[in-house]
Amino acid sequence: MLEQLELFSRYLTVDAKFPDNFLIDQPCCKMVLEAIRYKPYSLQILNQLKLPHQLEYDDITGSEDGWNAIRDMRTRGAPAIAIVAALSLAVGLHVGNLSDSAPEDVSAYIVKKLDFLVTSRPTAVNLADAARKLKKIVESAAKVDDNDGAAVVMAYCDAAAQMLISDVSDNKAIGKYGAEWIEKLAPGEQVSVLTHCNTGSLATAGYGTALGVVRSLHAKGSLKRAFCTETRPYNQGSRLTAFELVHDKIPATLITDSMASALLQLKGPSDRIVAIVVGADRVAANGDTANKIGTYQLAITAKHHGIKFLVAAPRTTIDLQTKCGADITIEERPGKEMTMMKGPRFDGEKLDVNQVEVVSIAAEGIDVWNPAFDVTPAALIDGIITELGVVEKSKNGEFDLTFAMEAHNESVKPSSIGGLYAA
Ligand code: MRU
Repeated sequence: MLEQLELFSRYLTVDAKFPDNFLIDQPCCKMVLEAIRYKPYSLQILNQLKLPHQLEYDDITGSEDGWNAIRDMRTRGAPAIAIVAALSLAVGLHVGNLSDSAPEDVSAYIVKKLDFLVTSRPTAVNLADAARKLKKIVESAAKVDDNDGAAVVMAYCDAAAQMLISDVSDNKAIGKYGAEWIEKLAPGEQVSVLTHCNTGSLATAGYGTALGVVRSLHAKGSLKRAFCTETRPYNQGSRLTAFELVHDKIPATLITDSMASALLQLKGPSDRIVAIVVGADRVAANGDTANKIGTYQLAITAKHHGIKFLVAAPRTTIDLQTKCGADITIEERPGKEMTMMKGPRFDGEKLDVNQVEVVSIAAEGIDVWNPAFDVTPAALIDGIITELGVVEKSKNGEFDLTFAMEAHNESVKPSSIGGLYAA
């Protein structure tokens, strides 16, 4: 485990020593972006509220801190939320010095903290799934003869760190399978794709899901251009995805959400989009997918224009307990996220990153509806890219996602791998 962590941190920290208040216009292109910095006893998260203008890390010293960082949107994206929650408790356990307590008391304490962390945000399943698995691990560790409280803490911390490590390798596999699938749409040609929201290194432990597919296409020389939506109202696309694309020197163009259909209508050699690829916060058993608001309308316009629509997500995002999209709780966010805009002051010539201002962009008094996610029906989805391959619908027009059971530590082994395209 230690060896893996060391390797992992080497992957993440090559030239990645950001000074505090690091500014975007400083030369930073050699660095690998890291949203989560973890080593035993220490957790830091990149404060995403300050991006794209400042790179600032916040120390997280326990589960309260972790809960607040998730609730305040300083850390975001379904996989990243789950990992930060799990690791925040890990550092808290070291600080709390519970090792002298009885193993069953340590286990009960951890279970209580995990239940609390799950309340931070409701829609993404990864957090609830991680909590469920971690609970099982500590409850089993507490029952092992000769295990003391320290052993239960150790079992928890190892499992939480393993989630960080596995997420990067899962994302790389998602990137590989997704790129191969998309390449087949236009053999021998470079392709352009459209993506939505943020699904990259900042939303995961590294590399990304849908943005991992974009990265992989680019690494193989198969990407002509990535288009990314602004992703109103919280602007994850213009603030985070655009930042990652510029940072990694991937040819990319930003559009507003309302430009997507016009973009798909273009048929020229330099701008023809072959696929839309998005991430997911929760995929129901039938393939209905909750993702950032605006995803559903992209799927509709993709269908209208005959363009493939793909969801990229690790198997842990597939929630077999949720039968269909109607059963997914959609988080509603404060109206002021739509009516106000926050950013550094611009005097007409340059930005002053130390002068952050909030401006009003809507008529005062207007009622606001601000759902953070929507559900795209499975009927509009052509494939679900996982770390095991791309799942397509079977002949009856339905997804068979039962292969995801194993990723949830279910006792039932998968009886089928559905329409898995590559494994
Ligand atoms: O509300 P956020 O910023 O946490 O939303 C992020 C998303 O919706 C991502 O698209 C999603 O988590 C995909 S997973 C990488």
